[in-house]
Amino acid sequence: MSTVYLNGRFQPIEEAKIPVLDRGFIFGDGVYEVVPVYSRVPFRLGEHLERLERSLRETAIRNPHSRAEWEKLVLRIVAEQPFEDQAVYFQVTRGVAKRDHAFPKNAEPTVFMMSNPLVPPSREQVERGGAAVTAVDNRWLRCDIKSISLIGNCLLRQLSAEAGAAETILFRDGRLTEASSSNVFIARRGVIHTPPKNNLVLPGITYDVVLELARANGLPLEIRDVLESEVRSADEIWVSSSSKEVFPIVELDARPVGDGKPGPLFRRMYSLYQDFKQKVMRAGKREPISA
Ligand code: PDD
Repeated sequence: MSTVYLNGRFQPIEEAKIPVLDRGFIFGDGVYEVVPVYSRVPFRLGEHLERLERSLRETAIRNPHSRAEWEKLVLRIVAEQPFEDQAVYFQVTRGVAKRDHAFPKNAEPTVFMMSNPLVPPSREQVERGGAAVTAVDNRWLRCDIKSISLIGNCLLRQLSAEAGAAETILFRDGRLTEASSSNVFIARRGVIHTPPKNNLVLPGITYDVVLELARANGLPLEIRDVLESEVRSADEIWVSSSSKEVFPIVELDARPVGDGKPGPLFRRMYSLYQDFKQKVMRAGKREPISA
């Protein structure tokens, strides 16, 4: 029985209950975070909390905790679990109120936190790579907010699930945005390309790590709008997220990407990422990535 946190109490998950009028349940009116934890050390907790604070600000949900209180809660939920590598999930909703689209005057935000084992793709899975399908990005125009209203993402992810694929890669107006639950990179003629952060994509913490590792190690990188046609003719495609780390897409809409195997730039990035994980993330070091 795992221990979760709900509104001030650590308790067994079976006992954690929220009222049916919680606006998270009624409207999907809330925001969330997922923090990867290696050897019980939360990775880039400060950056995740900064993103949470921004999501709360952008949705005008009152932040019920100071940075120090959030850090304490995350460390406690990690300590409560019996596993070393974890994915801490936490969400804040606007709280419980009579159903009305307009914000309630005096609702208390609901805070829920849990932690599950973190199981990134195995080396064998990475060697094999995954398939992806593509779809039109029909989500709203504030994908930079980590909102719990994920029905758009769920519908899009289901397309790839039904095709037996790992991800759904999204295009808006002929340009790459991201995937249903990860950011996307491509490689063409020895250069890594990825779209810039804007309102159409989630600013991924793993995306930042990939950019830092690329820069520190002299891998050619261009951050710019990426055309759908460039993705379809890319030599390599990768996705990144806290749970997938970096993962190669070797088949797009049932056609091979490049030679159908993880490419050389991916291999280099994967090895840099794993190295960084062992030497920095697990050790809980707060050192910047540098050449
Ligand atoms: N998903 N884009 C979307 C739409 C996402 O949902 C995620 C993360 C990312 C990558 O962000 P990060 O590198 O900070 O994990 C990009 C999380 C893991 C989830 O919803 O479970």
